[in-house]
Amino acid sequence: MSSFPNVRMRRRRQAPWLLETFAETTIQTKDLILPVFVTDGPQLEVENMPGVWHHNINSLVKLAKHAVQLGIKSLLLFPVVPADKKSECAKEAWANDNLIARALKSVKQAVPEIGLIVDVALDPYTTHGHDGLVNSIGVIDNDKSINALCKQAIALASAGADVVAPSDMMDGRVAAIRSKLDSQGFSNVLILSYAAKYNSKLYAPFRGAIGSASDLGKKDKSSYQQDIRNSDEAIREILLDVEEGADWLMIKPGMTNLDVIARARNACLLPIAAYQVSGEYSMLASFAEKTGQSFLEIQLEFLTVLKRSGAMHIVCYNAIDIAGSLLYG
Ligand code: PBG
Repeated sequence: MSSFPNVRMRRRRQAPWLLETFAETTIQTKDLILPVFVTDGPQLEVENMPGVWHHNINSLVKLAKHAVQLGIKSLLLFPVVPADKKSECAKEAWANDNLIARALKSVKQAVPEIGLIVDVALDPYTTHGHDGLVNSIGVIDNDKSINALCKQAIALASAGADVVAPSDMMDGRVAAIRSKLDSQGFSNVLILSYAAKYNSKLYAPFRGAIGSASDLGKKDKSSYQQDIRNSDEAIREILLDVEEGADWLMIKPGMTNLDVIARARNACLLPIAAYQVSGEYSMLASFAEKTGQSFLEIQLEFLTVLKRSGAMHIVCYNAIDIAGSLLYG
């Protein structure tokens, strides 16, 4: 008897109240993490990312206040580093008064209730554009890179970061950062590990925004970011990071890795954040424009699917607008 005409799937779709009643997945403002590009220079709109701007520290503080009022719980900060501060060894990454350290101190003071997450990777600071350090023949030196990442994590924790988010994909960095943080009195600082981060063309607008695209040139990150053809490998990366002491996991890009998010959800009990990366934002924005549809409604469709697949949090460049639409309709 459990088939048509006794069963009618459309019975529960007849009216908005029914749709709302049976909705399994709903995006809430608290799910959203707002990434911000911080600069000491001019506040330009990011190329190919309409509505996304570089913020100086003053406007970042205002943005943080606005975000808190809307119910957003945390920011994820990225620096736009001027060429004269970049070097082969990325030493600006752990300078105590670097841009991100100053941004952390200002926001912490003015808006203490917002969570501050910082990316830990060397690419904004290196002349070669890689996330790690390279040796004399241009090969990434994993263990030397870890050392540098630990120094960066400590500098940013000292400046007030609540969460450090290593996005570099070096082996062993979560354990090393955890033990360094603990030994320096930062045992309360969380690690949000970009556990499964794929080598992707979808990072292009981001690399343009932080100015690493030209530094990287024709080189790519395939010796450390994951191969898009593999998902067993992603689960191993995730389980290793859990083992090494991660508090929170990130999977990116989101849209092209829904299967990985779903597998990760079943493979471990840590909360998972999905990153809707710059290229996804950019694609959806131009699709909205080309078809005359609402960008926010398209966004919501994709964010909902990220959550439905198993992500608890979503890093999203227009989190402010999404939060506004959830509050005010
Ligand atoms: C840097 C980093 C990248 C992103 C976040 N952290 C770029 C990269 O790995 O080249 C991408 C985010 C985006 O595209 O929105 N390690």
